[in-house]
Amino acid sequence: MQKQRILIIGSGGREHAIGWKIKQSIRAEQIFFAPGNGGTGRIGINIPIKATDIPALLDFAKKENITLTLALPDDPLALGIVNEFQKKGLRIWGPTKEAAQIEWSKTFSKDFMRRHNLPTAKFMTFSDYKMAKKYITDQIFPIVIKADGLALGKGVIICETREQAYEALENIFIKKIFGEAGNEIVVEKFLAGPEISIHAFSDGKNYKIFPPSQDHKKIGEEDIGPNTGGMGTIAPLPFVSNNLFKEIEKNIVAPTLSAMNSDGYPFVGVIYPGLVLHKDGLKILEYNARFGDPETQTYMRLLDTDILDIFDACLDGKLNEIEIIWRNAYACTIILASGGYPGNYEKGKVVSGIDDAERELDIIVFHAGTAAKDDKFVTNGGRVLGVSAIGITLEETLAKAYKAIEKISFEGMQYRKDIGKSALLLSK
Ligand code: GLY
Repeated sequence: MQKQRILIIGSGGREHAIGWKIKQSIRAEQIFFAPGNGGTGRIGINIPIKATDIPALLDFAKKENITLTLALPDDPLALGIVNEFQKKGLRIWGPTKEAAQIEWSKTFSKDFMRRHNLPTAKFMTFSDYKMAKKYITDQIFPIVIKADGLALGKGVIICETREQAYEALENIFIKKIFGEAGNEIVVEKFLAGPEISIHAFSDGKNYKIFPPSQDHKKIGEEDIGPNTGGMGTIAPLPFVSNNLFKEIEKNIVAPTLSAMNSDGYPFVGVIYPGLVLHKDGLKILEYNARFGDPETQTYMRLLDTDILDIFDACLDGKLNEIEIIWRNAYACTIILASGGYPGNYEKGKVVSGIDDAERELDIIVFHAGTAAKDDKFVTNGGRVLGVSAIGITLEETLAKAYKAIEKISFEGMQYRKDIGKSALLLSK
């Protein structure tokens, strides 16, 4: 048995949750996080290297004899971290820059779906402000405007009115709020319906799908207000029947991965299509080339199999040789965010009650925007913590998480009190 020295790149709840799961493997010798957060420092060693500083990460991996690097966030994937590590003969898990383009360029991704007849909203792309404005003038609202590049999860703007769309265009093209990520945009029809997050491990030839999950992207209850990175997740999704799940596999996951192969950029890692169950059928809203956050926190509570075996199987092209076991249970993660998020917020607020919350039944608190200060944790980001629970029914699981949240406090703390509510209603 080869013991692994692991480097996890990133600093969010997703990275803490994957580190937490790896820690349970008898094959884990040491876990490093670059740069990590307050919570990851409790289960491994945080190193002060940014997730996008590829030369420094390469140096560190060589010096520390890292046997496996996990490239989890979107930015380093878009910068080609996997290609750079591979060139140096280092073992790294994640898609190449070319394969990750399915996430980091929305125009590429929409063209890919159109070319391969994958179900998605009709769209147009623009790189010219005036032409985009002219096109938008004749549209029926709501519409969606997407910045082509990565924009910290804020690049998708749902416009209910023409005025909102004009404002979005001005912000993107004239004020350049997304910088170069907004040089090009996608304009598409808004598709209403319940959203479904799908994740699948892929080794380039074989894939294994996770149970379906659901994120809650808006800051406000009943899906009001601006988009966030994600305010809470549940899995599995009670309203996704076996037939619907089979349809997702047959019409979305399998053809996507096979098209990526035939286009010449086989996908190794986790592919995460965000779907909507529209009245005209399933549609792909977007692709992500990575684990979702906070989907991952929920998934790690359900995953039974040693995750190091899965990473190895992906890298060795042997996913078909392993069985991935998910616990027969429900899990959820509820995000506790800083006051003001997703807009401006203050940092440095003392967080109390995490240990008390974790003493509650079946609770794990995953850190995201925290930093350790003296013997305390302080807030250090918009999404601060993810309180996760596991249980037999979804109702019971959510109730456990909300009870544990009562133990935690920090100035300005906000969270949604309706995570899982619409999924439960739909399944009745
Ligand atoms: N769950 C949202 C994301 O990871 O992009």
